[in-house]
Amino acid sequence: MTAPSPPPLAADLTEGLKRLKMAAMRRLAPELLVTAKTQRWNPEEFLRTLVEAEITARDASNARTRLRQAAFPVTKTLEDFDLATSSIPVATFDYLASLEWVRAAENVCLIGPAWTGKSHMLVALGIAAVEAGHRVRYFTAADLVETLYRGLADNSVGKVIDTLLCNDLVLVDELGFAPLDDTGAQLLFRFVAAAAYERRSLGIGSHWPFESWGRFLHEHTTAVSMLDRLLHHCHTVVTDGDSYRIKQVRGRGGTNIKPS
Ligand SMILES: Nc1ncnc2c1ncn2[C@@H]1O[C@H](COP(=O)(O)OP(=O)(O)O)[C@@H](O)[C@H]1O
Ligand SMILES: [Mg+2]
Repeated sequence: MTAPSPPPLAADLTEGLKRLKMAAMRRLAPELLVTAKTQRWNPEEFLRTLVEAEITARDASNARTRLRQAAFPVTKTLEDFDLATSSIPVATFDYLASLEWVRAAENVCLIGPAWTGKSHMLVALGIAAVEAGHRVRYFTAADLVETLYRGLADNSVGKVIDTLLCNDLVLVDELGFAPLDDTGAQLLFRFVAAAAYERRSLGIGSHWPFESWGRFLHEHTTAVSMLDRLLHHCHTVVTDGDSYRIKQVRGRGGTNIKPS
């Protein structure tokens, strides 16, 4: 037998909670009133339970919104990251996972060949940051530059950058996949310099070691200036070794595969 449904909340209370947008309280109150009466809760306990339920629901809803706004291309988590097959030292991983660097407005650069977990780590760190209450935005470098380029068209680059830097953490993945033209490189530099100035964290993923950044940044001097800003407060993490795919195949007994 199911318990009888509790009497509905008085209309004025329902209306009031609706107007105040206390959806969780409104949903919970009828049943909680019954429980509180039968179990003789003290009034403070009743109020606290309602307030806590509303806060929990709001936090979850805000986190969902932040997750959507972050625009992650995939869902990857720190729990799913297999440290044993990665070159990332445990202490480094733990530090990154602590998100201390986001709170301290420091940067993280993940540098290493394809399939070594750079994007996985960036997204997983981003999701952890969202869950911890931070505002995060993920871009591939190409998409970020395109976004900045669009600002050039209507003279709003400054505004576009300001909006992006409302985030606590901006992830820029696949930096150097495609070479940038001079304007693109300048725009990217402007963004990185603004992030440093505004004290926002950047998380960068690139398969190019720093000494090769001149190759995709058009001008050697742009590369030097950008690295200067980026590396000022930065944790550089090298993800090298075999690709994860090859390690997986090896793990299943295929030992003859060479990295391509
Ligand atoms: N150490 C790891 N643990 C778990 N999955 C991994 C690891 N490294 C890579 N992967 C997985 O391998 C695939 C490729 O990794 P990815 O992060 O995209 O590599 P990269 O960005 O370095 O090219 C992804 O599906 C990722 O989840
Ligand atoms: Mg990647």
